[in-house]
Order: sequence, then C-alpha cells, then structure tokens
Amino acid sequence: MCGIVGAVAQRNVVEILLEGLKRLEYRGYDSAGLAVLDDKGQTLNCVRAVGKVRKLVDAIEENPTRGKTGIAHTRWATHGVPSERNAHPHMSNEEFALVHNGIIENHDALRAQLINEGYRFDSDTDTEVVVHLIHQAMDKEQLDLLAAVQKIVPTLHGAYGLCVISTRDPETLVVARSGSPLVIGVGIGENFVASDPLALGQVTDRFIYLEEGDVAEVKRKSIRIFSGGQPVERKLTRIRSDMSEIEKGEYSHFMLKEIHEQAAVVKNTLSGRISDSHVLEEAFGIKAKAIFDQVNNVQIVACGTSFHAGLITKYWLENIAKMPCQVDIASDYRYRNIIVRPGTLFVTISQSGETADTLAALRYAKESGYVGTLAICNVATSSLVRESDFSLLTMAGREIGVASTKAFTTQLCALLLLSLVLGRRNGMDETTEAQYVKDLHKLPELIDKILTLDKTIQELSISFADKHHALFLGRGIQYPVAKEGALKLKEISYIHAEAYPAGELKHGPLALVDDKMPVIAVAPNDELLGKLKGNLAEVSARGGKLFVIADESGGFDEDGDYKLIRMPPVPDVLAPILYTIPLQLLSYHVAILKGTDVDHPRNLAKSVTVE
Ligand code: M6R
Repeated sequence: MCGIVGAVAQRNVVEILLEGLKRLEYRGYDSAGLAVLDDKGQTLNCVRAVGKVRKLVDAIEENPTRGKTGIAHTRWATHGVPSERNAHPHMSNEEFALVHNGIIENHDALRAQLINEGYRFDSDTDTEVVVHLIHQAMDKEQLDLLAAVQKIVPTLHGAYGLCVISTRDPETLVVARSGSPLVIGVGIGENFVASDPLALGQVTDRFIYLEEGDVAEVKRKSIRIFSGGQPVERKLTRIRSDMSEIEKGEYSHFMLKEIHEQAAVVKNTLSGRISDSHVLEEAFGIKAKAIFDQVNNVQIVACGTSFHAGLITKYWLENIAKMPCQVDIASDYRYRNIIVRPGTLFVTISQSGETADTLAALRYAKESGYVGTLAICNVATSSLVRESDFSLLTMAGREIGVASTKAFTTQLCALLLLSLVLGRRNGMDETTEAQYVKDLHKLPELIDKILTLDKTIQELSISFADKHHALFLGRGIQYPVAKEGALKLKEISYIHAEAYPAGELKHGPLALVDDKMPVIAVAPNDELLGKLKGNLAEVSARGGKLFVIADESGGFDEDGDYKLIRMPPVPDVLAPILYTIPLQLLSYHVAILKGTDVDHPRNLAKSVTVE
C-alpha cells in the first residue's frame, strides 16, 4: 500500500528518498514520485512515474534533480487510475508539495469548496484537496506551515498520514497522523520521516512513533510534536535494521525464502514460551493473568490469511479449551451491531498490525465491553499492538512477499499457545497439555521434512499452469486450511480458486467438477478421513482431477485415480500448520509457471492501511 519517505538534511537527499522508496516496494504500489526543494529552497522540483521505483530513478537520471529537503511516495491507487498525474507528490501553486497515505472521505465537498475559491485540480485524487487547503490556510491567515497543517487537519474526515514541504518554509517537513502510521527518524543534524521505519534503516536506527492525532514539525536540528495543539513528548525507540531480512539471498523470490524460513521462525515463536511440559502463561505479559481470569469465550477478528488463522483457532479452542469462539472478518464486524457475552476476550490477528479494518474493529471492540483485547501480531511497534491491552508477538521476522506464508504458520503457533493456556485454565489435565507441548517441540523438524516435498510439488504444479479454476476441499479444521490454499493460489497465480468444506460438495459445487477442474484435497489421517474419502470418490466419479495431500498411513494407493502428495505422519493438532506448507509451495510453483510477479501480485498490497 502507499509509502511515505521524507528528509531534511544538509546533504542532497534524493538518494536517501529513492532508497527509502525501494525499501517500501514490498508493500505494493503502482506509481512513485518525489519532490525536493532546490538548494536555495526557492523552487520545488517534482518527478513522478507510473510503475516501479526503477522508472522514477530513470526519470531522475534523465532530468537530474537535487535538494536538501524532500518527500517521496509510492502510491497504491484508490481515487483515480494509476497515472503520472495521480501519482504523489501533489502540488499547490508550485509552492507546496504533499504526500499522503490513507483516504480523505470528504474530498468531494472540500474539492467543490476549493474550486469555488479558484483552485484548479490537476489530479483525480482525494489527496490533492489537502495540499490546496494548506495553501489556502497559509494565504488567508498568514500562518506558517505547521500552523496551517494544524488548522486544516480537523476538516479532514477519513484516514491520513501526510507530509508536506513548501518554498515558504524551507528546511521544514510537517507531518500529521490519523489512522495511517508515521515515524520520525532521528539523525545527527538531519531528520527523516516515513510510514515504516524500514524505509529509513540506511540512515538511522532511532525512531519516534507518532500517535493518533499528532502533528509534527521536523527540521534539521529540531523536532516539535503536538497533540490537540499542545506540545507533547513521544518516546524515542531504537530499531536495528537487519538487511538480511530484506534481501532474497539464495532464493529467487521472497515468498520462496519465507516458505523455507518457517522451521526457524516457528522455533522463534515457540522459544521461551513453552517448557518441556507446558505453556508459560507469563509469555502473554503482565496484564494477561487478570484478563484470562475472566475469560469464558473468545471473539476473533482479522482479515485475509489472518482470518483463516482465526478460523482454525476456533476448532482448537473448542477441542482443547472447551471454549466457545466466534470468528469474524474485520471489515464486516466493524459495521455490525455486535452482542458481547460477559467474559469474552477480543483477539485480533494481523501480520502487519496496521490493517485498517482490523484496527477499526479493535477500536470498536474497546468500546463494547470485552474483558480485554489481545493482539497476535508480527510487528511489535504496530498500532494494533500499541492499542491492545496485551499481545503475543509472532516472531516471523519481516515478511516481504505479499502472499502471507511464515506469518500464517507463526500466527497458528501463537494461537495454539493461547488455546493451550485457556485449556489449562478450563480444566485440561497436565498429561494432555504435556502431550500437546511435546508435539509442538517436534514442529520445526516436521516443517523441514515437509519442505523436502518441494520437488514433487513442483512437478505436480505443471498440471495447473493451463487451468482457469481450481477447487480446494477439506473437512473440519482442514476446511480453513483449504481456504488458505485457495487464497494463495488465486492471489499469486490469478487462477480462480475456491475452497469448500468437502461435505458441502453435493449441495452445489459438484456441478463444477469435470476433467478440466483440478480438485485439491487436504487429507490428514484424522477422524474425518473416511468421510472425506467418500466426498473424493464423488469427485472422481465426475472425472475431476484429484490432487490429494495425504498422510502416508491414510490408505491412499500410489496408483489410485489421483495424484498424491505423501505427508509424513503428524500429530493431529499440528496438521493445520503442516498441511498448509504443500499448498504454499504449490501456489508458488504454479505462479512461476504462469510468469506472474510472485512477490508483488497485481492490484494487491502487503499492508492494507485503507478501508
Ligand atoms: O497484515 P494483516 O495480517 O492484517 O493482513 C491481512 C491480509 O491483508 C493478509 O493476510 C492478506 O490476505 C495476505 N497477503 C494474503 O496472503
């Protein structure tokens, strides 16, 4: 999704801004741009390009530009098609340049009002109103840049992280945050801003996170932050930048690298949180005990892959913790009239911790009478973690590929820990817990074993390359695994894929099955395997091409009417985590055969920070 970088220094900042944009590329975008004040601070030079940051670099090489104060942006189109005129920065009167993440919901009304007052619009974006409003405030009321931004932000409805520069107040960046993250990078005699600290890892490791409603003025040697017009102090945080996380190393894609990192990151997620025989409840932090004491029900809210992790957790909570659990999609939940039962814990799941709908759902939940809010999240400094009562971090490391892989499996580990903690509190005996924990200790080794199936899966992927549709089937807890498999395939290979609970086949989807329809079945050797086999026989009878991911002890013959991916025997409780991995590999290899942009699939963004 959109990314912001800004810098004010004594040196030329163009390279810093471009490097920042490159570091944000993983978020997904369709155009990029940059504006710098020339060395005298009298002229604003703006360059924009459609497509990758490389195109912007080429444009700058053709028309070299330099400056000591500047802003840059990667845009993911919401209002107006991806085009040069809609790319940020947006300008007002050649004197102001502004970049913006988020959505200004009342832009139509503001635009009409500005047009009435003589402003001309050069883009179709919601953003352009903001830069004209700042210009108008400075002109009409003789304000400086900071005061002008403070004046106009209350008129903006929606979400924004924004940064503006002006010839009228050179050597100054003014930023504002509401609903879209922003950090200030603190340098020596120079300062920076960005929507993600990763963008600034090359220039500083000291960051100040802005909070909701903050407006800040960032100069070379000073930083002033305001909330509700009053000066405020915000904490300085040190974040080490680990370049290996944003390099592909020996792998051709981040997605493949991240799939192969799963044994290691799962180990990290479990490390220090389980003993030989039980889960250490303290891992949930000091606030957890008082909240867990009251819990008899769980509400989970998330989006996309994280939502699938929630669906799997419902089965764990019912089976292990004997506790009811509701799971909702955040974009739906946030607009419902929810009924909260006494004793309900509210759990959000998110890789980024910045997903707009999940954050909005959390804010809604905080007003709704839950006993507490828990974030299962991969980013310690994210809004979701900061705004929740407590959190359990998934230690997946940075996930760059848009398709979530290691984030999902580590989320499942964290959620299994939660299920076990609640299970113990709800009467699970020590021996049962010890067995689950013993199984968890085996998980990294089992992941590595399953990754050795890569070659077999690559060969099978050839059968999918010319297909337009695919059906994924699973029963019980494997149904959300099938859903995750279908999401992976569709998002990176653009093949239409659907998942169904296998028991639903004859209630409709069986009509789709013919010899052109690959059907992928998730078939561990669990108590529903017999039922699933019956459903698969129905598929074979209609000529469907079956691909079965099955336990080697599950009784599937090598020479059956299907292609087999033979899984090692795995403990039931771990099956959802482990059966996901062949599905990740399958979608990866199919996407490679289709020649799609695996790490940056079209139209998608890594972190969905707008509604
Ligand atoms: O950062 P989050 O986990 O909140 O993101 C939620 C979804 O946007 C995300 O899981 C998305 O579905 C994945 N990129 C799919 O692979």
